[in-house]
Amino acid sequence: MKKIKISPSILSSDFGQLSTEIKKIEDAGADMIHVDVMDGHFVPNITIGAPVVKALRKHTSLPFDVHLMIAPVHKYVKNFADAGADIITVHPEATDNLLQTIELIKSLGKKAGVSLNPNTSLDSIFPVLHLIDLTLIMSVNPGFGGQKFMPEVLSKVKILRQKIDEENLKVEIEIDGGIDFDTGKLAKEAGVDILVSGTTLFAGNDDLKKNIKKLRNC
Ligand code: DX5
Ligand code: ZN
Repeated sequence: MKKIKISPSILSSDFGQLSTEIKKIEDAGADMIHVDVMDGHFVPNITIGAPVVKALRKHTSLPFDVHLMIAPVHKYVKNFADAGADIITVHPEATDNLLQTIELIKSLGKKAGVSLNPNTSLDSIFPVLHLIDLTLIMSVNPGFGGQKFMPEVLSKVKILRQKIDEENLKVEIEIDGGIDFDTGKLAKEAGVDILVSGTTLFAGNDDLKKNIKKLRNC
């Protein structure tokens, strides 16, 4: 069976010492670092912006998996690319022209992701599937960590997995929200490639390495 990638969300880490936290994530064996960017407008919470991504860039060589929950997103894409994001993921509802935003991300030499909220249908992603690198399936309504996993999104993962395999596309499937050792297993069985997790991975003091391993093998 393929190796599942783990993308810990720094939303659940200590914002007072982010550079130390991302070093810990790297040492614990993560594959990438999930950065949740929220604007208090597209989602009802505010987190961090491009200057923080830039400041963190020198502290790790792991890819930054940047999840933009901001609108309008298009005009900020370059800021995050310049700051050192490796994967830039946007929500279709946050841009007037999804195709143009994807093309912009790609033109900046970055991997492009599109994220679907639990209530957003796969139809908004199918027309661009051959152009992107990542589909981020939200298994909670975005805005906050620590929410309950919504199992109904697993049917979307299964359909997406089938389509990607049938058409032999390179796009990866990532799932985000309420991922623990049980829901992570369900997501894996449905066909995801990457698990995002915050609350579960950062629970306990120095258990990050153990938790990453456990989630990878769940
Ligand atoms: C929610 C964020 C997620 C979330 C993950 O809007 O996109 O990345 O914080 O955290 P947990 O694992 O706590 O659901
Ligand atoms: Zn996220």
